[in-house]
Amino acid sequence: MAIVKLPDSDVFTRLVTERQSVRAFLQEPVPQSLLHQILMSARQAPSGANLQPGTFLCIEGQARRRLSSDLIEACRNGIKEVEDYGYFPDPMPMSLRRRQAASAQALYGALGIGREDRSGRDVQFERNFEFFDAPVALVVTINREFGSGGYLDLGMAIYGLMLAAQSHGLSTCAIGALATFPNLVRRSLDLDAHCAIVCGLALGYADDAAPVNKTKTMRCALQDYFRVIA
Ligand SMILES: Cc1cc2nc3c(=O)[nH]c(=O)nc-3n(C[C@H](O)[C@H](O)[C@H](O)COP(=O)(O)O)c2cc1C
Repeated sequence: MAIVKLPDSDVFTRLVTERQSVRAFLQEPVPQSLLHQILMSARQAPSGANLQPGTFLCIEGQARRRLSSDLIEACRNGIKEVEDYGYFPDPMPMSLRRRQAASAQALYGALGIGREDRSGRDVQFERNFEFFDAPVALVVTINREFGSGGYLDLGMAIYGLMLAAQSHGLSTCAIGALATFPNLVRRSLDLDAHCAIVCGLALGYADDAAPVNKTKTMRCALQDYFRVIA
């Protein structure tokens, strides 16, 4: 097959449009040098006053097994914690609730899990806490003293990481579910009280045959988020 060299702008467009959250991975390890390269790309993100907030913790071995089992146990026992930062609007306006429902439908639809299938949804939810068995499990933290601006900066670094991974044929999924148990995560990983838990990140080579990776989400129309004021 002839290799067609795309102009750089097309390469970027392809990178952003082909990236999707992946929730099933091949058990193929990611070389440490490649992970380092991806993290260096993530760190190229701009940040206010170049403060470069946030830390990416790679969780392995016994620490990873313990964290996953602690999280699953807490989830099964119905433990509730106050998150370190607010994520969703509360109450969620109807227009956003529709988007939330559509993304849930895309995920559970791909898995054949019906609307009433509570236990099917619980099983999939617990997969978050296992980092979807990705070869690389990251926990993203930020110093608690940062306000919203720090989270804004860190979000850019996270997206940079996702795109850098994508450019190397790797896939990712952010795991906000981890942020619902901040005290447990800190305890399990022996982290300082100043560490706010932002999210987890699963990273690895996508298992393209897995039904869950057929999840496809839509984006709202340009006029819903862009307008000119003159
Ligand atoms: C900060 C953040 C947290 C997320 N948390 C989760 C999560 O806990 N579990 C999950 O399955 N997906 C999670 N996602 C993935 C979103 O559901 C996904 O990005 C969204 O539906 C758009 O789909 P796409 O990434 O495939 O384009 C998260 C995404 C972001 C950016």
